[in-house]
Amino acid sequence: MLPRGTQWISADATMTLTNRQTDAAAASLDETDQKLIPRWHFAMLNDVERNDAFSQAVRRAVVPGMCVLDVGSGSGLLSMMATQAGANTVISCESVEPVAAVAQRIIESNGFHERITIVPKVSFDLIVGRDLPRRADILITETVDCGLVGEGLFRIIRHARDHLLHEQSQIIPRRASIFCALLESSAIHKNNFASDASGFDVSLFNRFSTQGYFPVRLWTWEHRFLSEKVPALSYDFLVDPLLEREVRFPVRVKITGTLHGILFWFELDLGSGIRLSNEPGNSQSHWMQAIQCFEKPCHVKEGSILTVKVHQGETNIDFEIE
Ligand SMILES: C[S@@+](CC[C@H](N)C(=O)[O-])C[C@H]1O[C@@H](n2cnc3c(N)ncnc32)[C@H](O)[C@@H]1O
Repeated sequence: MLPRGTQWISADATMTLTNRQTDAAAASLDETDQKLIPRWHFAMLNDVERNDAFSQAVRRAVVPGMCVLDVGSGSGLLSMMATQAGANTVISCESVEPVAAVAQRIIESNGFHERITIVPKVSFDLIVGRDLPRRADILITETVDCGLVGEGLFRIIRHARDHLLHEQSQIIPRRASIFCALLESSAIHKNNFASDASGFDVSLFNRFSTQGYFPVRLWTWEHRFLSEKVPALSYDFLVDPLLEREVRFPVRVKITGTLHGILFWFELDLGSGIRLSNEPGNSQSHWMQAIQCFEKPCHVKEGSILTVKVHQGETNIDFEIE
């Protein structure tokens, strides 16, 4: 099973499972569920820093009487937090049907089923007046992977702003920034590229290398930072278009070495000054850091200035050195 940021469940996969969901197949379905539902859900649910940060942010933002939309129920945790904070109506949608079914049982067993409605749908299919009684006062969504965008956060927020929220609605998280640094790590690079194996040239195998970023727990690999931390991108989820974007910025090389890739991480502002980050120093977070390795590492010299180009798409962030 792959860590968060590597694998995602598509709505199509969900449909296939749903169609196969018959009583006769229930036993094997449990097995299928176990294969379909990523194991990172457990690490995420046990991430105390994450849970506390969301809980605090939700408590500060939600006032009694509010209608809350939680996109991506998972276990129903954030919806239960919203209810505990005083929300009267919480609509919580979950695109993976077996997950939605379990969320329903969890909110029932915790006694919140009268105020939380689990809707087993992808958020893009929600309709105000049918799935929600009215446009929501707050959107809460933790659909954030190690590289921020890989789980489709931007599309979820854009769609909700256009169709499910009103002018004064709040969004948790409120803002996000991406920071990056030049990285030397032959050990990490070897996770995605090969050239020589026992004297044989296997470099053609690199056609199967991950394009874009993948998760890495930096402190577990030998590495050196070749630059300081540099701000790369930032977003205000209430007002920014959250569309494809390209930026360039200079990065000063602080140590001569071999540039294998760019390490990056996010910093979320959950509102009211509550911050959550998978920065390299945070070894407790269930989120790893994101790395984009370059197929051909290059030598870089102390004092030189590189131009880094970042392209942010719907579910990807790609770095290049120009
Ligand atoms: C990272 S989990 C978070 C679960 C829970 N909110 C929490 O914080 O503990 C995100 C969940 O959102 C679901 N999801 C992702 N995109 C969705 C969408 N557009 N609509 C509904 N559910 C979505 C996934 O299936 C997954 O269960």
